[in-house]
Amino acid sequence: MPILPGNLEASIARAAQALADGELVAFPTETVYGLGARADDDGAVRKIFAAKGRPADHPLIVHVPDVAGAEAFAAELPPVARRLIEAFWPGPLTVIVPRRPELGAAAAGGQATIGLRSPAHPVARALLEAAARLGVPGLAAPSANRFGRVSPTSAQHVASEFDAGLRILDGGDCALGIESAIVDCSRGGAVLLRPGVLEASRIEAAAGVPLRAADAGAPRASGTLEQHYAPTATVRLMPLRQLRAALDVLPGEVLPVEGAQRLAVYSLNLRDVPRGLRFRRMPADAAAAAHELFAALREFDAAGVSVLWVEEPPDEPAWAGVRDRLRRAAA
Ligand code: TXA
Ligand code: MG
Repeated sequence: MPILPGNLEASIARAAQALADGELVAFPTETVYGLGARADDDGAVRKIFAAKGRPADHPLIVHVPDVAGAEAFAAELPPVARRLIEAFWPGPLTVIVPRRPELGAAAAGGQATIGLRSPAHPVARALLEAAARLGVPGLAAPSANRFGRVSPTSAQHVASEFDAGLRILDGGDCALGIESAIVDCSRGGAVLLRPGVLEASRIEAAAGVPLRAADAGAPRASGTLEQHYAPTATVRLMPLRQLRAALDVLPGEVLPVEGAQRLAVYSLNLRDVPRGLRFRRMPADAAAAAHELFAALREFDAAGVSVLWVEEPPDEPAWAGVRDRLRRAAA
């Protein structure tokens, strides 16, 4: 499995060349790892759909070095999109804007719009810049996991999802841990398609227009499918009171015998659970909870947990991204 240290210039150069040649490379961003291909080559982009097992009509995010890179793919950058880009790039915000018809058709899943983001992770930036020097205007990159699964936040997570042979740039653990906020700026105004770590109030303030919630007419987005980000374990999300009550009535035979841990608990407020159940405390800070969320879900899976009871985090703006991912994991 070629995992390349992302801090080495030679790794960046090799990865950029592979991308220029139409190959796939997984790379770190500040949100999650992406599975990248040059966005101006529909054949290269189709390899992403094949590797992920993702339906080809689901649009991907195109990563660009800067606003000039965005202009290569956008037919137009509406003023709202420009303000968001100005405020949050490089960073964890994706804008959906009208697409130049001649570029990025496969990346856009055939849609007339395109999702654009300029990531902040130094390895992603070095890769985008090295690829640009080889004539690559941007990298289509969905999260580097199989379709519907939990997004990867480390190079090891990526390696566990794909065949040996995939080049992976290692940039360590992703700082933020959940995917970018997505704002549709293509239909007038600003519509939040997916919450991230950026709070909606900050996005709205920068947009200068009311931030509307996604509705039924919103464009297709697999990250907005009801069931997504799902671990193998069945996830049940419940308020603290209900979680306590459920644990109180647990019949003895559900408790683990000789390490066979079927049921696990992931909770903000509980200090412990009936003896022997697998238990993990969720960090009290929303950013820390986002940072560890996907790794925690993967660890429960790796431990053989089949049912995961999760305490619902507070209904507060800072927790919107984590609540969204947990709700989808439980759908
Ligand atoms: O943080 C992130 O956004 C990560 C990193 C790698 O940048 N990427 C990511 O990509 O989460 P992905 O493909 O797993 O999710 C991107 C979401 C999908 O739900 C996709 O459908 C939506 O963005 N999207 C992309 N282009 C779109 C478009 N033109 N219209 C509507 N939704 C779009
Ligand atoms: Mg994804």
